[in-house]
Amino acid sequence: KQRTFTMLKPDAVKRRLTGEILARFEKRGLKIVAAKTLMISDDLAKTHYGEHSDKPFFGDLISYITSGPVFAMVLEGDDVISMVRKMVGATNPKEAAVGTIRGDYAIDTGRNIVHASDSEESAEREINLFFDESEFCDYELPDEDIIYEEP
Ligand code: GTP
Ligand code: MG
Repeated sequence: KQRTFTMLKPDAVKRRLTGEILARFEKRGLKIVAAKTLMISDDLAKTHYGEHSDKPFFGDLISYITSGPVFAMVLEGDDVISMVRKMVGATNPKEAAVGTIRGDYAIDTGRNIVHASDSEESAEREINLFFDESEFCDYELPDEDIIYEEP
């Protein structure tokens, strides 16, 4: 099974949406294999969003993501990287479909409440950036044979 890195941004945590958003991932059938609340340092923020360092919004993005606690997690499941991106919705919440997380809970691009890895390469990079090997939980979900045709 595949793993992806997902993070509830400070606005989501401050708005007490952590449980509600986590519930969406859980109900879908995804497995939480690591999770924690943390304050992101300036350095970590700049590394994580390094691909955007030349963009005009980079400064605002770094201030936003370091403005409060984030809830970081690693989710596991079949095709989980693209699945979670679809659940998250378009970068601009005004264009995000209703039923997606951003489409249901957010308005501004600069306050779009959730991050998700966009490729296998970024998932691996971001998982290693935020989590140590010791932070992963190895366990079985008892209903995997109900959720998956071939567990
Ligand atoms: P992430 O999952 O957070 O990486 O979002 P994304 O992959 O949908 O979008 P992208 O990687 O292109 O941009 C990263 C983040 O930068 C976005 O989620 C926004 O929070 C922020 N961002 C992107 N474009 C803009 C913009 O035009 N203005 C502002 N203020 N923020 C932006
Ligand atoms: Mg991105």
